[in-house]
Amino acid sequence: MEFLGYTLRNNLFVAPMAGVTDRPFRQLCKQLGAGLAVSEMVTSNSLLYGSAKTLRRANHDGEVEPISVQIAGADPQMMAEAAKHNVDHGAQIIDINMGCPAKKVCNVMAGSALMQDEALVAKILEAVVDAVPQTPVTLKFRTGWNRENKNAPAIARIAEDSGVRAIAIHGRTRADQYRGAAEYDTIALVKSRVRIPVIANGDIGTPQQARCVLDYTKADGLMIGRAAQGRPWLFREIEHYLNTGELLPAPSVSEIHRILRQHLADLYAFYGEDTGVKIARKHIAWYTRGIAGAATFRHAMNQLGNVRDQLQATDDFFLAHAQTHERFEHEAAATLPAFSAAADEVLAA
Ligand SMILES: Cc1cc2nc3c(=O)[nH]c(=O)nc-3n(C[C@H](O)[C@H](O)[C@H](O)COP(=O)(O)O)c2cc1C
Repeated sequence: MEFLGYTLRNNLFVAPMAGVTDRPFRQLCKQLGAGLAVSEMVTSNSLLYGSAKTLRRANHDGEVEPISVQIAGADPQMMAEAAKHNVDHGAQIIDINMGCPAKKVCNVMAGSALMQDEALVAKILEAVVDAVPQTPVTLKFRTGWNRENKNAPAIARIAEDSGVRAIAIHGRTRADQYRGAAEYDTIALVKSRVRIPVIANGDIGTPQQARCVLDYTKADGLMIGRAAQGRPWLFREIEHYLNTGELLPAPSVSEIHRILRQHLADLYAFYGEDTGVKIARKHIAWYTRGIAGAATFRHAMNQLGNVRDQLQATDDFFLAHAQTHERFEHEAAATLPAFSAAADEVLAA
């Protein structure tokens, strides 16, 4: 896919997820089939640029290009400065977050709360586009601020007029938070009204759903978040299905073990061992979500506090399964991980 001057391997995007889409996860998703991965949101408050968390979020060493960095905030000048700062530190695409309903962001009228103030949206977008004239700017937003006010088409028009080069739309309103099902009618409507690329997002969990959402919305690409947690190979599965109409077999237990081992090594190297072990727990839980007999393993995992024990327990679990099963058996059809808890927890952190 040609996208903003870059050639991507496909039109599948990893959704930005605070606390999840760190550099190790983005790299893994790209290696396993994602065309582009948007980084975790970086604050536009320059007072925080030196904090360990913000520095880590802005670390793109060795990452496959293009590097897309998401910024959030409500003040046009601060957003313009944040865009410049991130471009100076390696961002090749600046993505603006108007899709996040988390309290921490919305209390200061950032994230999706901004959609209520279309004049301010225009000011922010124009300020950011002007601040980084050589760098494409993209916008992520929702269908509206509540179901009575689905103003995504108006926001999309403002974006296009402000020089934003592509948009991603999550098929829920701000008031929906993460409840209910995503809808794709509004995304289809927006797609029919703008010329810039539209990326559809929300509740895409399988290759078949990916095909349906693409066909229904006529979107240029898809953005996938929760379904890729613990399943970074989902991108190659979707890619394969979109190209051939055939489903790839699920990865074997041994392959998942190899992928997780690499992921853990990257997490320890990126965060250091102490923090790495803590961050790794939620990923390990996601990799083993829904697998028969894995609940005890996950519980035990949360008690382990160092790299050696974490790796040993992981190896024991996977090697024991590999001896008896080529592939995991799932207790139920894979469901998306709970939404509100996950998002609010990480954003409150
Ligand atoms: C844990 C978590 C963190 C998120 N953080 C962000 C964020 O920083 N910026 C953003 O624009 N959206 C964020 N989102 C929303 C996702 O990008 C995406 O729009 C949403 O999860 C719907 O897509 P999905 O159904 O494929 O998960 C977050 C979602 C989750 C679950």
